[in-house]
Amino acid sequence: MPDITIQKAAAQDVPEIMKLLEFVNMHYIPSEEMPELDYRYYFVARDGDRIVGTSGYKILSKTTGKTQLMVVHPDYRRLGIGLRLQAERLRAMAEQGAQRVVTNADRPETIRWYKKHFGYKKVGTLPKVHEFGDPNIYEWTTLEMDLTQWLAQQNETERR
Ligand SMILES: CC(C)(COP(=O)(O)OP(=O)(O)OC[C@H]1O[C@@H](n2cnc3c(N)ncnc32)[C@H](O)[C@@H]1OP(=O)(O)O)[C@@H](O)C(=O)NCCC(=O)NCCS
Repeated sequence: MPDITIQKAAAQDVPEIMKLLEFVNMHYIPSEEMPELDYRYYFVARDGDRIVGTSGYKILSKTTGKTQLMVVHPDYRRLGIGLRLQAERLRAMAEQGAQRVVTNADRPETIRWYKKHFGYKKVGTLPKVHEFGDPNIYEWTTLEMDLTQWLAQQNETERR
């Protein structure tokens, strides 16, 4: 089991993050689907010097956050790294006042993962503007979660 640390991304991490995004066809940046990757809103999972996962977010309004891009290197999946990367960005959004979080996802297994582990509910769909992510899926499923509730559950679990 590798010793993985989750940290805030640095400017010099961007090229390695872009390489990681290529695994899941999410590297079209800048594009209409993803105009920019601002490293200040990204986290990285490191195995030693190697970046093996990343997750990002954006603050949309005083109370709403949006996740942006998440990938774990295929060799490092199902080790709990995705859960840690997601929890880290949720906490960051909560610290900035977000009470609800919106996420667009395409792969059915990822949508199931978000629902199962973070209490997301489907609120709609959105056609992709161009190829991004799974090339065989042409729309995003828009999911929403209650960040205040998630945080309360986390704090309760930590207290026990
Ligand atoms: C979604 C993703 C980031 C999850 O990362 P991960 O590190 O593999 O996930 P974790 O190991 O933290 O997940 C732990 C749990 O989710 C389950 N899980 C993880 N990936 C899964 C998958 N692809 N299908 C079904 N279940 C999955 C694990 O079995 C585990 O479940 P358990 O706690 O009930 O045992 C990763 O699969 C990925 O990079 N997917 C492709 C890109 C993508 O869809 N990104 C999201 C963009 S919105």
